[in-house]
Amino acid sequence: MTKLYSDLAYLYDAMYQTFIDYDKEFDLYADLLKQHRVASVLEIGCGSGHLAKRFTDRQYDYRGMDISTQMLAIARQRCPTAQFECADMRTFTTDRLFDAVIITARSISYVVHNQDILSTFRHVGQCLSNNGKLIFDFIDAGSFLPDMDPELLIEHRAVHDRQQYLRQSRYVPNLATGLTWDWHSAFFTESPDGQLESIATDLATLRAFLPAEIRLLLQLSGFQIIDEQVIDTYAFRTVVVVATKV
Ligand SMILES: C[S@@+](CC[C@H](N)C(=O)[O-])C[C@H]1O[C@@H](n2cnc3c(N)ncnc32)[C@H](O)[C@@H]1O
Repeated sequence: MTKLYSDLAYLYDAMYQTFIDYDKEFDLYADLLKQHRVASVLEIGCGSGHLAKRFTDRQYDYRGMDISTQMLAIARQRCPTAQFECADMRTFTTDRLFDAVIITARSISYVVHNQDILSTFRHVGQCLSNNGKLIFDFIDAGSFLPDMDPELLIEHRAVHDRQQYLRQSRYVPNLATGLTWDWHSAFFTESPDGQLESIATDLATLRAFLPAEIRLLLQLSGFQIIDEQVIDTYAFRTVVVVATKV
């Protein structure tokens, strides 16, 4: 697993709050759930629990799921009353049915191979009630991959426990596994005079999708798209899909 969600989970949590608007993200999903009259929701890739907190504060019948114990430890601290479960979206099962599964913040990008996407969607289908909804977002390959510049250094900073950290990232196309790229990152502590000390490097392969690919993969797994919207996020053009079990 990428260090960002394991050893460096505390940094993910500190850093992503600086550029993800979790209130806006919550409003988007809450509106879709309301529109589709959803009473219970399973969030896959719930991470450190920012949406979990908002869902449980508003009394949703909510469960969060993530593959990372370190991300879940932070989520449990943030939201002690929520139910959480550690599982892999490609193979999970649940002890009850949900009206909707949401997979947020482009977490589906970590499922690179077609057979794993199909397995994820099929496992989602098994935990949904009749007429249940799968709602998730994905990075639009058509707008993201052509503009990828492997020379571009992307910097993000965060403060955790009064220590400033810097992350330097590069996205390098790696089409060997499909519409994928390698995300190389290096993490440093940064002193007030700008001195950097390396603490970790990380490498993850991620996947973007064409809308037609998603449509086909959903169809092959027993879903049909009923709503689709394009949203520009902090770094990616993202497509949010609502699919229903058929
Ligand atoms: C981009 S983060 C999003 C976290 C959170 N939703 C947020 O908005 O901050 C992706 C999350 O997906 C989780 N993840 C990656 N692969 C997974 C898998 N196969 N099954 C379940 N969770 C996974 C990671 O551990 C991480 O917490």
